[in-house]
Amino acid sequence: LSEQEKSALDAYEWSSKLFHHVLRYTAEGKNGLNYLQNRGFKQDDIEQFQLGYSPNKDQFLSTFLHKKGFQLANLMDVGLLSSRDGNTFFDRFKGRVIFPIQNHQGKVVGFGGRAIEDGVEPKYLNSPDSKLFQKGKLLYNFYEARKHFQKEKEVVLFEGYADVIKASQAGIYNAVATLGTSLTKYQASLLKRYVNRVVVCFDGDKAGKDASDRAAQMLTDVGLDVLIANVPYQLDPDDFIDTYGPEKFQNQVLRNAESYVAFAINYLKKDYNLQSKHDQLDYIEKALDLIATVDHAVERDVYIKELVETFDLYRETLENEIADRRRIKQ
Ligand code: CTP
Ligand code: MN
Ligand code: MN
Ligand code: MN
Ligand code: MN
Repeated sequence: LSEQEKSALDAYEWSSKLFHHVLRYTAEGKNGLNYLQNRGFKQDDIEQFQLGYSPNKDQFLSTFLHKKGFQLANLMDVGLLSSRDGNTFFDRFKGRVIFPIQNHQGKVVGFGGRAIEDGVEPKYLNSPDSKLFQKGKLLYNFYEARKHFQKEKEVVLFEGYADVIKASQAGIYNAVATLGTSLTKYQASLLKRYVNRVVVCFDGDKAGKDASDRAAQMLTDVGLDVLIANVPYQLDPDDFIDTYGPEKFQNQVLRNAESYVAFAINYLKKDYNLQSKHDQLDYIEKALDLIATVDHAVERDVYIKELVETFDLYRETLENEIADRRRIKQ
């Protein structure tokens, strides 16, 4: 690391501590604290994840960092401060709740800043990519979650910071999230080094389902077993835990996660008009391709049965088709 980068790391560490202190102990942090409490975040969560608040003032952080002797101009590239004239520096995260993002060595290298009022755009302001902070290579909470990978050889993958934190209320500590981008090949390979299985637990909306499909393919491609949790439509894991509690999240959402193939067989249907015979045939071909990738005979049987019943087909025909596909594969 260059001297500039080391200093930026230092500045992030100080800023994170300052914002956490503001949130926990000061009048300036009251709005942030109220916001988090209203959303069901607990004292423990605030400690564990070192959440903070950047006061709604133009130069709260910049004054602090200046007094600490930092070269403020160096802190623009890493997104802590902004400036119009290169002389006066302003707090970039002002008025936002701060989710510190650690790199895989446990150092704070970026912030996710959540607006605390509805309608403020962007909802999350994130640190920009820099040499210290690359969204495609980092996963939120990876440093902590790694300590829990050993036991289960499993990770739960979420979309958002809030989901990871609420999951910890349900005793789920092997949880990570992407940083507002789609899962990358790099992140998939990283997880493959530590676990055998990934439970994808994205939002219950269409965007979440689409992203689940993409992530699951990526994870399958690097050789991981993938399960997909079924979060009800219009909720995300964080909302679900607020509404129904941590136990129901464990028992109804995570425990009922289905294999990627089971998910995909249904998800695929959106690309076809199943009223048309022609589309039906195309869909069935695709579904057979998927089923043929399953190594457990009993699991294949479950999916075959579903196709037989849905489309009124002969079981034997499907079994032969799948056997052919599996022979070719070998
Ligand atoms: N995100 C982002 N910028 C945005 C919106 C979202 O970077 N303008 C990222 C954040 O990392 C966020 C994740 O995408 O955690 C998932 O987005 P979304 O589901 O919209 O946010 P939630 O995590 O559900 O946020 P909240 O619960 O605070 O509303
Ligand atoms: Mn503390
Ligand atoms: Mn979403
Ligand atoms: Mn969400
Ligand atoms: Mn949410």
